[in-house]
Parts: sequence; C-alpha cells; structure tokens
Amino acid sequence: MKLKIAKLPGDGIGPEVVEQAVKVVDAIARKFGHEVEYSFGLVGACAIDATGNAFPEETFKICLNSDAVLFGAVGDPRYDNDPTAKVRPEQGLLAMRKQLGLFANLRPVETFSSLVHKSPLKAELVDGADFMCIRELTGGMYFGKKGREDNGDTAYDTNIYHRYEVERILRLAFEYAMRRRKLLTVVDKANVLESSRLWRQIAQEMAPQYPEVKVEYIYVDNAAMQLIRCPKNFDVMVTENTFGDILTDEASCITGSMGLLASASIGEHTGVFEPIHGSYPQAAGKNIANPLATILSAAMMFEYAFGLMEEGKAVRAAVAASIDEGFVTEDLAEGGIARSTSEVGDWVASKILNS
Ligand code: IPM
Ligand code: MN
Repeated sequence: MKLKIAKLPGDGIGPEVVEQAVKVVDAIARKFGHEVEYSFGLVGACAIDATGNAFPEETFKICLNSDAVLFGAVGDPRYDNDPTAKVRPEQGLLAMRKQLGLFANLRPVETFSSLVHKSPLKAELVDGADFMCIRELTGGMYFGKKGREDNGDTAYDTNIYHRYEVERILRLAFEYAMRRRKLLTVVDKANVLESSRLWRQIAQEMAPQYPEVKVEYIYVDNAAMQLIRCPKNFDVMVTENTFGDILTDEASCITGSMGLLASASIGEHTGVFEPIHGSYPQAAGKNIANPLATILSAAMMFEYAFGLMEEGKAVRAAVAASIDEGFVTEDLAEGGIARSTSEVGDWVASKILNS
C-alpha cells in the first residue's frame, strides 16, 4: 500500500520524537511491503519564525494532500510569559485541528504491567486500567468568541457548543462503547453550565439508540477524583474540549509517564496523530525525551488512517518489548540505564524488523 504521510515535527522535542516514529514507520513499511512518501511541513514557533504564521497555508495544503499527519509538539518559552504576543505557536495546532475538521481526539489510557510501579498511584489501582478518553476538539472555549473589554481589563472566552457538534462526538463515543465494554461516561458540569446541559440532554436523547450501552453522567470535578481513585471503573469517557484537555493530562499519571500517551485526532479531513505531551523545551536537542508516545501515535495512524491493524499491533508489541526489557529513556529508567531518544527509536525499529 502507498502511505502518504505529512511530517510536522513542530517545536522543542517535536523533531526528535517524530524522527523516531519515522524510523518505526519505515521499519513497518519494509516488513509489510508498503511504500511511504513523506512531505514536511512547518507548524508552531518554527513556522512563525519562517513565515509569520503558526499554520501556514502551505502546511495546510500538505496535510490535505496526505493520508495522515504525524505531528510532534508546538510551543516555545519565548511566548509563554508574553501575554501580549499577537501570534502564538499553539495557534498553529488549533488552526490545524479546526481547518482539518478534527473534532474527535482519541486518547487511549493503557497500562503496561511492567510499569505500574512507576505510577504515583498504588499499583493495584492502576494495573489493568484500560479506557478511552474521547475529547471534543474543535469547539467549546478554545474556539468560542473571546476578547477584552474595558480597555483590556475585562476578558472573556465563550464556551459555546452547537447541537451538531455535540451529536457527532457523542455518536462516535457511543459507537466506541459498543465495540468495547459498553460503558460510556459522559463528563460535564451540568449543575452549573448551560453548554453542559445541552450535552447531557443530547446524550439522553441518543442513549435509547444504544440500549446495550450503560451511560453514566458525572460532573467534571468528580471525574477528576474518580480518575485517580478508581481508573479501572472507566471504559469510554467523552467530554468537551477544555475538560478533556485537563483530564487527559491527569490520566497520563495512571500509566506512569506523560511520555507514553498517544492520540489520534480524526474528523472530516486528514487525521493527525500526536503525542499528548507538549514541546518540553528544557529537553529539546538533548536526545533524552521519551519517543514512545509518538511511536504509539504512529501505531494509531496505521490503524485509524490506513486500517492496517497488523501493522499497528506490531508497533505496540515492539514498544511493549522495549518497556519490558527496560530499554527506555530516563523518565522510565529508574535505576537502570537511561537510553537516549534515538537509541529507543532504533531499538523499537529493529525489534520490528527482527520479529
Ligand atoms: C494538547 C495541548 C494543546 C491543547 C495546546 C498545546 C494548545 O495541551 O494537545 O492537549 O490545549 O489542546
Ligand atoms: Mn493538553
């Protein structure tokens, strides 16, 4: 099969981790007889430096002309403490999601038994936890009307959702639940927010179409607690953009490292496959960042963008082997030898070729 992949490494550790995912994609292509064609695009701070725009038109075209996008991270400390900056690297990621219509962000939380002791939570609480967070990605406060009034002394962001946006993400979540353990947790703040009441109303309207799915409604504050109190109680969780952003960072603690959580952003046009972690500028260029989240995002790319399930499985097996054998970066090494980003990438790629 011919795989047209757009490579958008972005900023910070993005280029280093994407490079490892590319090694892995190449290894899979060799093993399974696929032909890969890469195109490269700028996004984030590097795009602002080169063009003044965080998501240049050219990058958008490259994405549209590809079957999948492998994305690293965006962000730069130059902008973090400058609330007056007119353009920001993060706008590149948001523009990409919006323009590609990527309304669903799938963030699987899976534990590796050999790593459960790395979690700040008790091992018996997390061992076996396996759930899917589905985050709405192109609505809510991120994209609602925002602005300043009173000479800049009043600021607002509007948390707005339209019925069609809620329906399409809930539909996807119900379908997911059907394919899994048939438990759907809808997370909202319906005791306070009107937008949440719309979510809950639509979920209740749709539920009878999925009689086999047990639907639970919980408030986001409670969800934040339940996630670390009893992560095994979740199967599919669905929520709006901002809540999903916050809860999935929290959920990454369950697995033991933020460097392990992959994601797929899917919707109308080309899907984007990206780690949930950020650009980690302190580690940029040091060859120490954990590439596994990006490599696991590549596994999701094979499955979601190309329907290549065996290939996805082969990537996951090689990642699991690197964890089991302790061939990992410093965030996971504890006492053992900390391998570099590129060593881990090479190891996973050769594991694929030799198994
Ligand atoms: C994420 C990130 C982004 C978000 C930032 C970089 C804009 O935190 O993908 O979770 O808030 O969505
Ligand atoms: Mn986030």
